[in-house]
Parts: sequence; structure tokens; C-alpha cells
Amino acid sequence: MEPFHSVPQEAIDHISSMIASGQIQDHYPLLGEGLSGKVYEFERFAVKVFKEDSSERQDHWILNQLQSHPSFPTLYHYEDQFMVMDKVNGFTMAQVMKSGENVRDSYYTQIEDCVEHCYRQGIIAKDLHLNNIMIDQNNHIKIVDVGRFHSTDQKKVFHDRLTEDLEDLKYCLFSYSSSKRRKRRRHRRYKSSSSYSRSYSYSSRSYSSSRRKYRKTYKKIRKLFST
Ligand SMILES: Nc1ncnc2c1ncn2[C@@H]1O[C@H](COP(=O)(O)OP(=O)(O)O)[C@@H](O)[C@H]1O
Ligand SMILES: [Mg+2]
Repeated sequence: MEPFHSVPQEAIDHISSMIASGQIQDHYPLLGEGLSGKVYEFERFAVKVFKEDSSERQDHWILNQLQSHPSFPTLYHYEDQFMVMDKVNGFTMAQVMKSGENVRDSYYTQIEDCVEHCYRQGIIAKDLHLNNIMIDQNNHIKIVDVGRFHSTDQKKVFHDRLTEDLEDLKYCLFSYSSSKRRKRRRHRRYKSSSSYSRSYSYSSRSYSSSRRKYRKTYKKIRKLFST
């Protein structure tokens, strides 16, 4: 068996020719689709095939800079038309929330940790929404789409904005599922808290959801998607 950290050249050639001949969708399952491309399952990998007009995307370049953090899929190969990364065995947060599970508290800490990691590298985490964040079978989050993340050399300036941006992010990701009163309360709390103490109190990695809970959700989602 090939070591996990590499994709054999024959596999790359095969993927290239499948894409060139327009056959990839006939042979490999679609994992998901977004505005800039389609993602197919190829053995233990996910192959993201870019739409023709999205050639200026920087997915591979940004993803490469974030490889040291476990919440980003490993990148194996990149070409103009496609890239090969780790396949995440799990569901997007949007799918998990559809099943009725309250993921807000269990996973937000991990998301915050990721965003903090990005800012430390001078990368601004943009376009972070529920379809771009997945939850794997070990209840760890994976940020699968970094194509609109933005790299900057002004690390300090952006790091100073971290707390504020995280508050916005939390609001954008989860506000629609909470009541107006809770939203208002949370907003007041944010305003009165000291920015850095809040920022660091969020950064510990507590992966609170249990495997049993994941299995339950998994069953619910399968039911949802089989109808
Ligand atoms: N590494 C991956 N493993 C499993 N599924 C993935 C992976 N990357 C993306 N997907 C699925 O494909 C969908 C679209 O991928 P994404 O990178 O967000 O495309 P776009 O840049 O067009 O928005 C995601 O919402 C997710 O469901
Ligand atoms: Mg996306």
C-alpha cells in the first residue's frame, strides 16, 4: 500500500484524464458542490475540480500554509484544474444542524481555535460558513474550503481584530437558531467583556461531544438523506 502522505503518480494521471475527458462524475461519487467547483471521492481522497472561471483561486496556496493545524485537510497535490486532499469522513455543519443537533456549543471552541491559528499566520478566515466546515467521525471539525481566505503580511493589525471578528463569526454561524433574547444578551456580554480575556478563554481545545452522540446524529442524518 502507498504511504498515506502521498498520491501515486498513476492516480494523478488517472484523475487528470478523467477530468479532461469529462468522465469523472460518471465514475466517482460527488461529495459536495459549491460555487467554485465540485468535490469527488477518489479512494481515500477528495478531489476538488475547479470551475473554469475560478482559476485565480488560491486554495492550494492558503491550505499549504495551514497544514500544521489538525483542522485543515492535508493537501497532497495541486494543478490548475484540481487539487487532491484528505477526504473528510463526516458531514458539513449545515447537514448536522439539519438533523436537529445543537452543534453550537460543542464545536464553536474548535472553530475559534482554527481562526486564531489563521490569524497568527496572517491569514484572514473569510467565507467561513456551515457548508465549508465539516465534522469528522471523531467529532473534530475540518475547514474544507479556504479558497476565499485572505493572506496578509500585517499580522499584528489583523491579530488585534481577532476578538471582534470572532464575535461576528459566531453571530453569523449560529445566530439564526437562537432566540432574539439570547442574541441580545450575548451581544451585551460581548460588548462588556475585555477582548483579550474572551479571546483566550475560547482557545482551549475541548472536544466535548462524545462518539455516542456522533453516532446518533449520524443515524439521524442518514435517515434524512435516504428519504
Ligand atoms: N475534503 C473533503 N472531504 C469531504 N467532503 C468535502 C471535502 N471538501 C469539500 N467537501 C464537500 O464539498 C462541498 C463543496 O466544497 P467547497 O470546497 O466548499 O467548494 P466551493 O469552493 O465551490 O464552495 C463542501 O460543502 C463539502 O460538502
Ligand atoms: Mg464552499
